[in-house]
Amino acid sequence: MLFRQTARSAAALFGFLFCLALAAQAQTASVKLPNVTILATGGTIAGTGATSTTTVGYTAATVGVQALIQAVPEMTKIANVSGEQVFQIASENMGNEHWLTLAKRVNTLLAQSNVDGIVITHGTDTLEETAYFLNLVVKSKKPVVLVGSMRPSTAMSADGPANLYNAVLLAGSQDAVGRGVLVVLNDQINGARDVSKTNTTSLDTFKTTELGMLGYIVGGKPFFYRATTRKHTVDTEFDVMNLSVLPQVEVAYAHANVGPVAIDALVASGAKGLVHAGVGDGSLPAKVRPALSAARKKGVLIVRSSRVGQGIVARNGEANDDELDFVVGDNLSPQKARILLMLALTKTTNTRDIQKMFWTY
Ligand code: DGL
Repeated sequence: MLFRQTARSAAALFGFLFCLALAAQAQTASVKLPNVTILATGGTIAGTGATSTTTVGYTAATVGVQALIQAVPEMTKIANVSGEQVFQIASENMGNEHWLTLAKRVNTLLAQSNVDGIVITHGTDTLEETAYFLNLVVKSKKPVVLVGSMRPSTAMSADGPANLYNAVLLAGSQDAVGRGVLVVLNDQINGARDVSKTNTTSLDTFKTTELGMLGYIVGGKPFFYRATTRKHTVDTEFDVMNLSVLPQVEVAYAHANVGPVAIDALVASGAKGLVHAGVGDGSLPAKVRPALSAARKKGVLIVRSSRVGQGIVARNGEANDDELDFVVGDNLSPQKARILLMLALTKTTNTRDIQKMFWTY
C-alpha cells in the first residue's frame, strides 16, 4: 500500500517538474533575439588615444569591429550580433565610392530573412551625410541605425560602448521598422534627413535643431514621439544597386566679398551639379549670379541652398529661379542638397522634376 502511494507521489512530482521544464523552454523559445549585423566603417568610435584623458588629437579608425563587439558583452542579451569591417577610415575621407559599397552591402544583407536590422558604426564628421544617402537608397523597411561617438574607445567615460548598445537595441526593435534611416548617439534618436552635427566636440552634438528629434532610448527601450514626413527607403525612386559611379556634384560657399572663382573652377572640373550655399535665404551675391547663370547655360544643374542651417530657401524669393532655371534646396543643408542632387541626376536633368524631388525627399 505504502509503496503504491509513494510511486503515485513520485509520478505526480515528475509530471509537475516535466511541465515546468516545458514551460521554461517555451518561455525561452518565445524570447527570440533579433539578428543584427554591425557594419563598421571607422571613426572615433573605433579610435584610440595615448591616454584616458585624450579626447582630442587621438587616432580615428584603429579598432576593429570584433573588438568593438567584445567591448560590449551586454549586447548578447538583446540581439544575436555579427560584425563586418566594411572600411576603416576617418569619416572626413568618406567618398561616393564608399557610399555605393555600403549601400549595396546593406541592401544585400537586409534582403536576407536572417537579418533583422543593421547598425553602421561611423565617424561623426560626415555621419549625417551617409545617413541621408542611405535614407534615399536603402530598399527595406528593416531598421538601419548609424552610430558614432565623440570620445575615442580609450577615453575615460568613452561614449562609444553605450551608443553602440543603444544602436543595436534600436536596430533589433520592431518600433524602428519603417521609420527610415536613424541616428543614435547620447540616448537620442534622430532621423537621417534632418539631423546634423551641431558641436565640434560635445557629446550632445547630433541634433534636429528646429524640427526636433524623433525620440529617446531610456532604460533599454526606445520611445518615439515623431516620425519623418518625407519619403524614404522603399518609397524613393532611387536605386544604386547597378551604379558604379555617382554624378559629380559640388558645393560653393558664399560669404561677404565672395567672387565667382570657386564656382568657375568647380564647373571647369566637370561638375554636373552645383549647390550654392548662399547667405540668408539663399541670396546670390552680384559677383556670383552671372557665374551660376553661365554654368546653368552650360547644362550644370544649380541648386540654391543656404549656409544658415535652418529654414526654407523660398523658390523665386531672393532670385527668379523660374527665369534662371534653378532649383531651390528646400530646408536641406548644402551637404545634404548635394546628395539629393547627385541621386536626382541619376534619374533626370529636368529642372522641374528635380524641384519636385527636393519637395518630396
Ligand atoms: N575624424 C573624425 C571622423 O572620423 C572624428 C570624429 C568622430 O568620429 O567623432 O568623423
